[in-house]
Amino acid sequence: MANDHGAVELAMRMKAHLEERGISVKYLGVDKPESVDYPDKAAECAKEYLKGGYDFAIVLCGTGIGISIAANKIRGIRCALVMDSYCAAMAKQHNNANMLAFGGRVEYKEDPLKILDAYLDSKFEGGRHERRVNKIMALESNQ
Ligand code: RB5
Repeated sequence: MANDHGAVELAMRMKAHLEERGISVKYLGVDKPESVDYPDKAAECAKEYLKGGYDFAIVLCGTGIGISIAANKIRGIRCALVMDSYCAAMAKQHNNANMLAFGGRVEYKEDPLKILDAYLDSKFEGGRHERRVNKIMALESNQ
């Protein structure tokens, strides 16, 4: 998990929530408001995740937009910028997203912890979705 200065409070809430759920967290974010560059945090988080041994990753910036764009530039990452529980569940069930992005300055229509839970409580459905996810990943080597 990593965040920039735009999402310190939400990152802290999410970390605590994950730990309450019994999920151990490798935290690479900033816990103070000093300014850092979100592409650096995206790369740090993605590279750590890709070392293996992690079930998923979370990145956060002010909107979630910049850090998700940056993370998706890294081979092997499928980062979903989720705005509600429905999208979070689908990100797992259909897209098998291995990273979620959130925005600390976004006014979500529901508690972002509920959005996170929707992802955590979902399973990848495989089948036709696996074919499509494989096609996404093939785009990484088709350029
Ligand atoms: C930083 O001010 C802000 O641009 C960043 O947190 C994020 O929102 C970028 O997408």
